[in-house]
Amino acid sequence: MNGKLRVKGGKPLNGTITVRGAKNFVSKAMVAALLAPDTSVLRLVPQIRDVDVVSSLLELHGVEVDYAAARGVLAINASDIHLPASPSRINTLAGSSRIPILFAGPLLHRLGEAYIPDLGGCHIGDRPVDFHMKVLEDFGARRIQEGTGMHLVADKGLKAKPVHLPYPSVGATEQTLLTAVMAEGITELTGAAVEPEIKDLISVLQKMGAIISVDTDRTIRIEGVPELQGYQHTSLTDRIEAGSWACAALATRGDIYVKGAGQQPLASFLNVYRKIGGKFEVTDDGIRFWHPGGELHAIPLQTDVHPGFMTDWQQPLVVALTQASGISIVHETVYENRFGFTDALVEMGANVEVYRECLGGLPCRFASENYRHSAVIQGPTQLHGADIEVPDLRGGFSHLIAALAAEGESMVSGIDIIDRGYENFMDKLQALDADVEKVE
Ligand code: EPU
Repeated sequence: MNGKLRVKGGKPLNGTITVRGAKNFVSKAMVAALLAPDTSVLRLVPQIRDVDVVSSLLELHGVEVDYAAARGVLAINASDIHLPASPSRINTLAGSSRIPILFAGPLLHRLGEAYIPDLGGCHIGDRPVDFHMKVLEDFGARRIQEGTGMHLVADKGLKAKPVHLPYPSVGATEQTLLTAVMAEGITELTGAAVEPEIKDLISVLQKMGAIISVDTDRTIRIEGVPELQGYQHTSLTDRIEAGSWACAALATRGDIYVKGAGQQPLASFLNVYRKIGGKFEVTDDGIRFWHPGGELHAIPLQTDVHPGFMTDWQQPLVVALTQASGISIVHETVYENRFGFTDALVEMGANVEVYRECLGGLPCRFASENYRHSAVIQGPTQLHGADIEVPDLRGGFSHLIAALAAEGESMVSGIDIIDRGYENFMDKLQALDADVEKVE
C-alpha cells in the first residue's frame, strides 16, 4: 500500500470542514443508472477513489460518465451498454471494490448476461456473497463459473420470488432492490436492511419509475415494472465521514464544525457521543462537535444494523474511548474481524484487549465462533507516536486520529487507502491546523 504521512500529534484539531455525498450511497446510485437507457444526474458526489472505480467499471460497460468534481455533479449515460471487452481489466479494477456484484441485476435486465469479477473491499471479515447469489439464482439467473470471476445469464428474463435475508445485509438488500425493480411480478423482501443509504437508493429508484414500499418491520415490497428512466438526485451526506471527524475532535480535545452533517442519519451516533461526554450542536448547515474539557466517560457499546450504532463508526470511536475514564466495552456484531486495528493502538500506549466472547451486549451471530469481536478499552491513556501501517479504510482513518492525538511523531504508511472514502482528507487536516506532511 502506498502513501506515507508524518504526523506530529498532541495538538487539538480545530476548524471547519465539509462532507459531501455518502460513499455507500453514491456508488449504488451510480449502478442504478445502468437500469435506464438514458441519462441520470447525481449531485453532491465526492471526489473519492470509490467513485473513480465505479466510473471506470461503468465505462468498461459502454456507459458515458462525466464528472465535474468541483461541483460534485456526475452525469451517467447508459443508453448503449455492452459487456466489457476484456475480463482482465474488470478483474484488476474490482480488486479494490465490492460494488461489481451489484451490477448483476441491472446487466441481466438490460443485456441478459453479466460478468462479475472476484470482489475486493476492506479485509474486516470473510464478506461472503451467498445472500446475493441466492437472490439472483432464485430470480432465474444461471451461473457459469469463469476463472477468476463468474458469468451470469438470464435468457428467460428475471422473475420475482419472495426473498428472506437471514441477516439484514446492506449489500444483499441493494441487490434485491436493483434486481426486483424490473423483474416480472411482485417481490416481498423480508429481513431487509433499512440504512438511510438504502432509503435514498429507494428514492432514486422511485424517481426512475419503480414501485417500492417499505414497512416498519424490515419488509420491502417491490412491484416490477418493464422499464425505467434516468433520474436527477442529490445524495444524502456521508454520516460515516461526519462521525469520523467527530471522533477526531474528541480524541484530540478539539472543536470541529462538520458542514453537511445531518442529524437524523447520525442519531444513534449523537446519543453515544453525548454519553461519552462529547458536546455537539446541530445547526441548519451541519453539526459542530467538540471536547468540552475535563473527563470523558467510558461506556458499553454494541454495533448493530440501522437504527443501531453503525459498525463503521466503531473504529474511530474506539480511538476516542482510549481517552475516556474507566472501562469501555465494545461488542462488534456486524463483522467478525474488525478489531485488528487495535494492535497499533496498543503499540501507541492504549490499553485495549480483544476477546472471543460476546461482551457487554446480547449474544450475536459470532457467539460460538472463534472470532475476537469484543474489545475492552481501559482509559484514559496517553498515546505516543509510532510507525504504523494502516489496515483498511476505517481502521486507517482511526490510526490517523490516534497519531493526531498522540504525543510526538508518527509515520503512518499506506494512507492512500483512505482516499477510497474520505474526500480530500489531506486538505481537511490542513484546514483543521493539523501538523501533517506527506513524505511519500
Ligand atoms: N453477509 C453474508 N452474506 C452475504 C452478504 C453479507 O454473510 O451475502 C454478512 C457479511 O459478511 C457481514 C454482514 O452480513 O458480516 C453485513 O454485511 P453487509 O452486506 O451489510 O455489508 P456490505 O453491503 O458488504 C456495506 C458497506 C460497509 C458497511 C456495511 C454495514 C458498502 C460499499 N459497504 O457493506 O462499509 O460496513 O454495509 O453497514 O456500502 C466502509 O464503508 O468502510 C464499509 C465497510
